Amino acid sequence: MSRTTPRTLVQEFDCTVPLLGVILKDGDRVKFMRVAIDEREYWIKIPKSLRPIYDPHQWQIGTLLQISGLQSIDRQKGRLELEATTWQKVEAPPSQPKPGQILICGKTDCWQKGGRELYQCLEQAIIDRGWSDQVRLQKTGCQKQCKQAPNLVIMPTKQKFARATVHQAGQILQAVLPSNPNKAE
Ligand code: FES
Repeated sequence: MSRTTPRTLVQEFDCTVPLLGVILKDGDRVKFMRVAIDEREYWIKIPKSLRPIYDPHQWQIGTLLQISGLQSIDRQKGRLELEATTWQKVEAPPSQPKPGQILICGKTDCWQKGGRELYQCLEQAIIDRGWSDQVRLQKTGCQKQCKQAPNLVIMPTKQKFARATVHQAGQILQAVLPSNPNKAE
């Protein structure tokens, strides 16, 4: 168990967040979960003792996880470290519609083959149409479909777009909106 020191503040945390991917170490051991919290990406460390029980292929990008653990804040460096102690998949409550998400691969292959332009196009379209509260645009790590770059996934429907282009921006936005009862016209 970690301790709080004059330099480091340690607190428990509990959050329900979408999975953006994992960071592997020593082959297929998961060292970090990459998650989105308030549209920012955070890495949550898996302690060595728990890595063997985490199957890296267990969950898809966008799976909603409830994660508990310890957060350490280095007061001098302003650095935050998160370490998980428990985690489990949760289903999003159907009665609480959430903004749709566009999870677009931000890694080199996708980014250089039109992903960057598509991201910028979608970002601008969301702003122009005033849909910022209905559609979230989020960059992810490699979605393991590099040959079909650029790639993106719509959440919560998990609809995938491969070799996506800026000409499909309207289609992508329509795909992300049906889940929301306040769908913009
Ligand atoms: S770089 Fe985008 S899927 Fe791999």
